[in-house]
Amino acid sequence: MEKFIVIGGKRLKGTIRVSGAKNAILPILAASLLAEGISTVNEVPRLRDVLAMKDVLRYLGAVVSYEGNTIRVDGAKVQSLEIGEDLMRRMRASNLVMGSLLGRFGNIRVAYPGGCAIGSRPMDLHLKGFAALGARITERHGYVIAETDGLRGAEIHMDFPSVGATENLMMAATQARGQTIIRNAAKEPELVDLQNFLNGLGARIRGAGTDLIKIEGPTRLGSANHTVIPDRIEAGTHMVAAAITGGEISVENVIPEHVEAVTAKLREAGAVVEEGEDLVRVIGPSRIKPVDVRTLPYPGFPTDMQAQMMVLMTAAEGTGIVSESVFENRYKHVDELRRMGASIKIEGRVAIVKGIPKLSGTIVEATDLRAGAALVLAGLIAEDATVIENVAHIDRGYENLERKYAALGARIMRVNGI
Ligand code: UD1
Repeated sequence: MEKFIVIGGKRLKGTIRVSGAKNAILPILAASLLAEGISTVNEVPRLRDVLAMKDVLRYLGAVVSYEGNTIRVDGAKVQSLEIGEDLMRRMRASNLVMGSLLGRFGNIRVAYPGGCAIGSRPMDLHLKGFAALGARITERHGYVIAETDGLRGAEIHMDFPSVGATENLMMAATQARGQTIIRNAAKEPELVDLQNFLNGLGARIRGAGTDLIKIEGPTRLGSANHTVIPDRIEAGTHMVAAAITGGEISVENVIPEHVEAVTAKLREAGAVVEEGEDLVRVIGPSRIKPVDVRTLPYPGFPTDMQAQMMVLMTAAEGTGIVSESVFENRYKHVDELRRMGASIKIEGRVAIVKGIPKLSGTIVEATDLRAGAALVLAGLIAEDATVIENVAHIDRGYENLERKYAALGARIMRVNGI
């Protein structure tokens, strides 16, 4: 099992380039299953989640090549309609192939991630939407089965603007007869990227990026060549790295508007953030002011930046409050940060973070992707060495994070199993 060792205390300085957005690539790769031609996707970093999605596509019968930062998918021979438990468990985002397989074949059989029952948290919005498009949904032996005699367009009002459900419904609706309208849709930039990719293939979708998306179907989907948007969460993580270390980092390949919520909070915390056309420059403050953060669907503060921002708050002069309103249980990093000396109290979905003069290095574990990134940030400012175990979680969403930070002056290295 690989680990990071981080020796804290260095100010990060220099330029860092952000990779393509993981959360845009995964649905786009899933959507490539709808196409009869070849989908070429550029700016794809080597991430574990991308490799997992590549395996899902191959398992379903697609021919996939991955050279440099370009993935090509030929979905002509896709046949399998079933995704087993092992693939679903490896990556929750595997559920994104449901919409495209349902659109293409009208039937699917997919294992529940973690074997949850219908109606419970993780998939209900996806399934309600599929049912509205005419699918009959049943559950047998831990599998969801969706069957149709052809999808038909419908008006769907989402109870909550779920990113994955909106994506799945957009994909399926490209093959539904007539118009589909999705209200209270997720507005994340990754939805816009998916719309652009699908329209490049020949779909007719409007409105992504707003809460009302209209899809005219069915359309024949051919080939497309698409370059994915930059990863706003990776960018945000580097912006916090600059702020927290009192450093100065130019983050390149960013759409500044996509990181606006993070920019606003960092300015409130005392950092200087300058925006260029496709870069942001962050200069960390000498003293970090406490801030309050509430996670919300886009354009609110992203839940995927909550853990990183909490690390910044552990170093503030005063007390800040974090409210996690998107996910029920997303405070696994708190125990690890406490092991480093942080003063954090959890009350339900709220975390009260009292700044302390210095975190101290110890052995901690990356329990998930963003928690792992947060621990790297914590390590950058902690006294002595921080050993972060289970960095495989970090590799799910950050390409060579240790090399990128070492190039900015951080003392960080990857070690194998000691
Ligand atoms: C996506 C992102 C993830 C991000 C999240 C919220 C990808 C691959 N992942 O995940 O990084 O943290 O958006 O911005 O893009 N929910 C339901 N029923 C459903 C679906 C979701 O209750 O059928 C709930 C979830 O439990 C959660 C909330 O809605 O509490 C948000 O989930 P959702 O927007 O669907 O997140 P994902 O698409 O899974």
